[in-house]
Amino acid sequence: MKIRNSALAGIALAATAALGLTACGGSTTPAATVSPSADAKVSGEITVYNAQHESMTKAWVEEFSKETGVKVTLRQGKDTEMSNQIIQEGDKSPADVFITENSPAMTQVENAGLFADLTDEVKNNVPAEYRPSTNKWTGVAARSTVFVYNKEKLTEDKLPKSLSDLAGPEWKSRWGASPSGADFQAIVSAYLELKGEAETEKWLTAMKENAKGYQGNGAVLKAVNAGEIEGGVIYHYYYFGDQAKTGENSNNVASHYFKNQDPGAFVSVSGGGVLKSSKNKAAADAFLAFITGKKGQEQLQTGKDFEYTVGAGVASNDKLVPLAELQAPTVDSSKLNSKKVTELMTKAGLL
Ligand SMILES: [Fe+2]
Repeated sequence: MKIRNSALAGIALAATAALGLTACGGSTTPAATVSPSADAKVSGEITVYNAQHESMTKAWVEEFSKETGVKVTLRQGKDTEMSNQIIQEGDKSPADVFITENSPAMTQVENAGLFADLTDEVKNNVPAEYRPSTNKWTGVAARSTVFVYNKEKLTEDKLPKSLSDLAGPEWKSRWGASPSGADFQAIVSAYLELKGEAETEKWLTAMKENAKGYQGNGAVLKAVNAGEIEGGVIYHYYYFGDQAKTGENSNNVASHYFKNQDPGAFVSVSGGGVLKSSKNKAAADAFLAFITGKKGQEQLQTGKDFEYTVGAGVASNDKLVPLAELQAPTVDSSKLNSKKVTELMTKAGLL
């Protein structure tokens, strides 16, 4: 029953509703046989296109190479920059594995038909609620939307109850975000999926009126901490990351989780997938199995990135509010539409 209570239980439910066959056919049932990557003979080289935090993926790569002897070349970029590149390269892409910060870029590559199916081992590592219903890629980590606020400027009773509240005229010039980032755009994609196009357009138009734009979530956190704005919509780990260092950009800040299945309680899944065109599919599969497996997820648990774990039953860092308590809304990550989001945000003057 732990799965039912977890923040992303909705993904499995949405999959069941939309694609009864897939769900009944076994996406939630563990596969009968497991082929552990540690025992499998993998060798050679792979190239990983990485849009996740570089430090995190580097730590994974180092450990994986030590264990298997596979040489991994990392190419670092941003979510949609890399998804567009993969699509442009098509069958000739040097990428064997693609890892992102958010789901929409994964969906883009999936829709282009470029991902191979997940192996049973990966499916066994990651519960169905952290994978899209299609099983063309998997969640490798997760992050929660949060409203960070300046404790001197705002008290708990004055906090917005919903992300939608920030569209009200009373919030004019009081909050900020980083609209050009993949993180914020993933939040908008969830809003779109949950509320529909007309509501999203309205909300974005109000946001243009009310919010200050920053380059990056770190800049939003800093502005909130300095009291330049009262609050900001970012992901949870920026606060924890800063606290783990000096706290100089977050000591005046508290985190408000919207909960109640609000669009502002959206939990975004960071994705990992193996390209169909991979020339070393065994090693690419083994890498994805490694990062979603016990060792890879433990690295996430104890590392400095403060993202949520999603695999191998490994608990998240205990400083975090548990995923199961976040009351995240039901969103099937394979339905997030990044193209529409860019279109609507451009129309609203946010991009
Ligand atoms: Fe981020």
